[in-house]
Amino acid sequence: MFSKPIRERVGVVTLGLVAVGSQLVAAGPCDIYASGGTPCVAAHSTTRSLYGSYNGSLYQVRRGSDNATINIAPLSTGGVANAAAQDTFCKSTTCLISIIYDQSGHGNHITQAPPGGAAQGPLPGGLDNLASAIGAPVRLNGQKVYGTFIAPFTGYRNNDANGTATGDAAEGMYAVFDGTHYNTACCFDYGNAETNSRDTGNGHMEAIYFGTGDGSGRGTGSGSGPWIMADLENGLFSGFDPINNPADPTITSRFVTAIIKGEPNLWAIRGGNSASGSLSTYYSGVRPNNGYQPMSKEGAIILGTGGDNSDGAQGTFYEGVMTTGYPSDATENSVQADIVAAKYTYDPSLMTSGPALTVGSHISLRATTACCTTRYIAHTGGTVNTQVVSSSDSTALKQQASWIVHAGLGNSACFSFESVDTPGNYIRHSNYALVLNANDGSKIFSEDATFCPQAGINGQGNSFHSWSYPARWWRHYNAIGYIAANGGEHDFDSPTSFNDDVSFVVSAGFA
Ligand SMILES: *[C@@H]1O[C@H](CO)[C@@H](O)[C@H](O)[C@H]1NC(C)=O
Ligand SMILES: *[C@@H]1O[C@H](CO)[C@@H](O)[C@H](O)[C@H]1NC(C)=O
Ligand SMILES: *[C@@H]1O[C@H](CO)[C@@H](O)[C@H](O)[C@H]1NC(C)=O
Repeated sequence: MFSKPIRERVGVVTLGLVAVGSQLVAAGPCDIYASGGTPCVAAHSTTRSLYGSYNGSLYQVRRGSDNATINIAPLSTGGVANAAAQDTFCKSTTCLISIIYDQSGHGNHITQAPPGGAAQGPLPGGLDNLASAIGAPVRLNGQKVYGTFIAPFTGYRNNDANGTATGDAAEGMYAVFDGTHYNTACCFDYGNAETNSRDTGNGHMEAIYFGTGDGSGRGTGSGSGPWIMADLENGLFSGFDPINNPADPTITSRFVTAIIKGEPNLWAIRGGNSASGSLSTYYSGVRPNNGYQPMSKEGAIILGTGGDNSDGAQGTFYEGVMTTGYPSDATENSVQADIVAAKYTYDPSLMTSGPALTVGSHISLRATTACCTTRYIAHTGGTVNTQVVSSSDSTALKQQASWIVHAGLGNSACFSFESVDTPGNYIRHSNYALVLNANDGSKIFSEDATFCPQAGINGQGNSFHSWSYPARWWRHYNAIGYIAANGGEHDFDSPTSFNDDVSFVVSAGFA
């Protein structure tokens, strides 16, 4: 289906080109894998084409206002995603990523994951959540694009994949992740898994895992993590020894290229910085003992969960592929060069929009729903609520409705909000309610207390999405504060008056 790549040497740089009609265009990762004899059988990305000749749909988004969908394509053949088309379609509403299309021609699209043996998703029918379409903006060669930000309870899957490795057959895979977005829950995975969403035994999956392990004490590298490991079912493996491989390093780069490949009694973990430099091999050797040799791969494709739909993990996926055959290190090194040349860069200014907030300022936030335009976000003890406040009210009430703006504790591109009358206490989400808690300095507190203001969804002021659950927005509902989805499993997720309930006008603080 794709023309044979032509390799040209220009100075010291090896430039891969592929013919599209009469034109030569830059080869993509899957052209490189094909030229290495290990073609892609699945190719997923919300950010760019993974073949030089690909100009079909990259992903689909669904908007909250009317459930309409749009397919997002590259700006040009082989190019980066047309994020502006998404922004136009999603203006004045919310959007979720509903499908990530397979670019390989195998039809291996991934969609909302069904319930599994370990976990039912939170939605009706046990479905997992879909990812917000705006959780992970970055630049690719200068253009804004969106990655797939996986919050806990979010997952994509294809249990009927075509052409992926089964049994002990050889395969390779890579993914580009956000090296700063991870947790310790099972399991932020991309790759090969069980076709029935259940744990059918050791060796029944072979997927890339990224994070600090599943809390079982199995699967660690050097330092405190996060690590690239293999989820082979019933274990996260950093090498042969199921407990620890000190050669598997803690990842510190913002963008990380993560590679797992396997063939009969041989497998490898490789990784590198997606923005510069080359790959290193963290493990290459025989399979672990106890049911992993031979492997019993089933060939389903997962993103964001374990093989049994364990769905507590978080991470961000920008692009990834699965191949047939065991790719050579040289082929993967060329793929890494292609990823570096694509120029992933993090631009903090993309994380927010709408009226700007100033760190250090004191603010108050007025509701804009017609019922409630004299109500402000306030707190009563640990409960965040809305209260009617005016300048003639008591100092105590005015302080309850006033907040000090800080750079986001969990991501400095976004913001955290400290109570004026209870220093050291911040608005955070807990069980989807907004609460006021003392900052305990933990990673989970920092992330739960970080919110990213956007232009107000109803056209007024700002709307604030949770950094860690970007499909959830500050909402007042029966005068209590929540992080709410636009349609979801809770009463406070009701789509009725959602746009107004999540839009707040920010002013100078009462106190
Ligand atoms: C993709 O490219 C082909 C051939 O160049 C062209 O016929 C087709 O219209 C393009 N499709 C899109 C969606 O741009
Ligand atoms: C969108 O679909 C969901 C479930 O399929 C439904 O509950 C909701 O009412 C729909 N929303 C709109 C605006 O049509
Ligand atoms: C399976 O993949 C092959 C390409 O190898 C493709 O021709 C075929 O249409 C795919 N089947 C489905 C059901 O998409």
